[in-house]
Order: sequence, then C-alpha cells, then structure tokens
Amino acid sequence: MAETKRATFGSKLGIILASVGSAVGLGNIWRFPYEAGSGGGGAFLIVYLLCVLGLGLPLMMTEFMIGRRSGSNAVQAFEKLSGKKAWDIIGAMGVVTSMIIIGFYSVVAGWTLEYIYQAVSGSLANKSTEMFTAEFAQFISDPVRPIMWTVLFMVITHIIIVSGIKKGIERSSKILMPALFLILLALCIRSLLLPGAEEGLRFLLWPDFSKINSSVILSAMGQAFFSLSLGCACMITYASYFSGKDNLRTSALSVTMLDTLVAILSGVMIFPAVFSFGIEPTLGPTLVFVTLPNIFAQLPLGGLWAFVFFVLLALAALTSIISLHEVITAFVCEKFKTSRRIGALAVTATGCLFAAVCSLSLGRWSGYTVCGMNIFDASDFLTAKILMPLGAFMVCIFAGWVMGHKAVEDELGNHGSLRFKAIGLYMFFLKFIAPIAIVLIFLNELGLFQS
Ligand code: PHE
Repeated sequence: MAETKRATFGSKLGIILASVGSAVGLGNIWRFPYEAGSGGGGAFLIVYLLCVLGLGLPLMMTEFMIGRRSGSNAVQAFEKLSGKKAWDIIGAMGVVTSMIIIGFYSVVAGWTLEYIYQAVSGSLANKSTEMFTAEFAQFISDPVRPIMWTVLFMVITHIIIVSGIKKGIERSSKILMPALFLILLALCIRSLLLPGAEEGLRFLLWPDFSKINSSVILSAMGQAFFSLSLGCACMITYASYFSGKDNLRTSALSVTMLDTLVAILSGVMIFPAVFSFGIEPTLGPTLVFVTLPNIFAQLPLGGLWAFVFFVLLALAALTSIISLHEVITAFVCEKFKTSRRIGALAVTATGCLFAAVCSLSLGRWSGYTVCGMNIFDASDFLTAKILMPLGAFMVCIFAGWVMGHKAVEDELGNHGSLRFKAIGLYMFFLKFIAPIAIVLIFLNELGLFQS
C-alpha cells in the first residue's frame, strides 16, 4: 500500500484526538439539541443512541478500515481497493457531501465568532429572552455581517489546512478537546441549578414512545451519522493517515463514546435552561443560540463564561471544518496533482461562495426554496438525511460485498497481529443488517409501511 510521501498522524493519541476533533463540533452542541428538541426529547435520544451503537460504531470501524487499507484520498480509495473505477462514485459523493456541509456549517461557525465578539464587547449582558431572540434573528438575516464572520472562519481553516496534517490538525486537537469538555461540564451544572431545571431534564431523558415516528427515526439516524462524521468519506480520509499499528476497533469505540458523551452533555446543558427560560424546544437551528446567552446572563462574570465557551465552540467547529476541508483538498491535490496550497485555495474559495448563498438564504434570499425549505435548511436536510445515510449504505455494501471477508479481517486484525473473533457477525452486519436497516428507515419515512 505504499504511497509517495503521504503524511501520517504522529501518535495514537493524535489519531484519536483528530478523529474526535472531526466528530465533536457544532453537530453535538448546535445540531443535536435542536434535533432532539424537535424530535420529542427522550424519544429522540433513545433512537439516537440505538443508531450510534447499532450503525454508527461499526460504520466508523469500516470507514477507518477502508481509509487505512487504501492510504488514498476518498475517491481513489474505492478504486484502489476494488480495482474498478466505477466504485469511485462512493468517494465522489463523499466529496460533494462534504462541500455542501461546509456551506451551511461554516455559516453557523461564523455565528460563534459574532458571539465571541459580543461577549468581549459586553453586549450579551442584561437582556431578556425576547431581546436575545429578536437580535439573533436580525443578525442571521443581515446580508453582510454573518458572511464576514464566515469568510474569516474559512480563512483560518485554510491556513491550518495549508500548514499540513501533523502540525495543524493534530496539535490543535490535543488541547482543544479536553478544554471544551471541562467547560461543558461546568455549564451543565449551572443549567441544572436553574429553577425548573427538572422539567428540561425529564424532557431529554424520559422517552415518550408515542413521539417516535418515521421522521424521528430518520432524523436520529441522520444525526448519528452527522455527529460521527460518517457517510461523507471524512473518516476514510483521516484514516488514510493512520499508521498500520493502531487498533481500528478500539479507536472507533473511543471516538464514538466521546462524541456521544459530548452530545448528551450538550443536551443536559441546554434543555434545563430551555424550560427554565420558557423557550420553545422545537425552535430549530436557532435554539442553542438563543438559549445559551440566557444561561450566561445568569452567571457571575457571565461575559467571561460566554467568551470562553464560544471560543471553545468555535474551535470545536474549526476542527470539524478542517476535516471536511481535508476530504476535498486531499482529493483535489492528488487527483489534479496540484500543490496543497493551490488545491486548498480552490476548496476555500468554493466553500466561501456556497456559504454566502446559505447565509443569504436566511435573509434576503429566503424566498428561494427547495421543497419548502430555504437553501440553508435544504442543505442541512439533504446532507444529514439523504446523502450521509446513502453514503453509509454504499460503504457497507462496498466493504461487505466487494472487499470481502479476507481483506476486511486482514485490515481490522492488523494483518494477523490482532484477534477479531466477531468477524463473522461483523461481515453479516455489513452485508445485510446495516444496508437493510438504512433502506427500511428511508422507506418508512416515505410512508411505505403506513396502512
Ligand atoms: N461531526 C461534525 C460535528 O458534529 C460535523 C461533520 C460532519 C464533520 C461530517 C465532518 C464530516 O460537528
């Protein structure tokens, strides 16, 4: 599998942290609470956890395996492992999906920069919930300001991407992730001490099974893939930088567990506050951004808390955008044989353009809709609920039917040096269980099983 001068991550911890850096981001802290809020709280959480364990974890092992075995970018990986060019389509879909995600994700990342600015300038203090809500709505529909922040965010991403895998990605993840975790814990405690907090906690943890319907199941599966960065070739790309000695199964387990823990902590931070301040849990993408300032306003030194939190959130978003950017940059550079500098520039420029469209779709261009959704919401929907599950489906088919038992066992067992007793079950999962489950969830959403 030797490749010409391909970088690798420097250490085992580096691998886990970079992958956790990709997985943990706005998906956990911004997207999870709003999906859980719209999906009925506890009911959503249960289905989400089932999807994470039943589909997400084995799929992450599979993406790690494909990436490391091929040592290639997302697109060429499939050709290299199958010997057939047609399978490239899976990687190509991943590249497209990553670009669409960059579009709306970097807009939300830009919002975090605005909040950092507001925390520093003191304008987050002493406002009512209504004022926070109104000001936020006004901000995101502004035609210039959010785009400015988004572009700044993309420029920072660009600089890190150009400085390379080891220095940029690995080093930054090592410090940021533990810091984010600690501040989340502190905010959970604060939120739980608010008056009426139990109601929010009950909403998140107590499943009302009557709320589980086809769209909750699809949302939970989409959220599981989104949060774990699966189905868009991201983990395949990162794993192409892994060394041959790492245990892919335990790495996947660590990443999955840490990511899920952060999502649950975000829920514990947000929902008690949502109920305590009388905010609607079904508010959608703005939920976290109108809830958090309320929590900070209640804290002594609230501005400082807000500052630290939003800096960490921005950094968590950064490590995720870096991974999305890397999927495309690695492909562009290796396919078109450009330098990293030029390849990355093309990706950054395209990302900025698409992000500007997504941002404008929340204001001036809100009249342009796709299936009743503005472009921002449509991009979110298309990626998490259609493209990522489809990508995941194809990855399972590829590993199960095309790569086959021997190659999979060889790679996951590090060429015989690790034992993998459950290989039979795992292959059965890849060939049948996962693809069938994903298809059933789709068909269910399309209403095929309703009488
Ligand atoms: N998993 C990231 C998050 O939760 C988002 C992401 C999706 C990153 C897909 C890379 C690929 O924020």
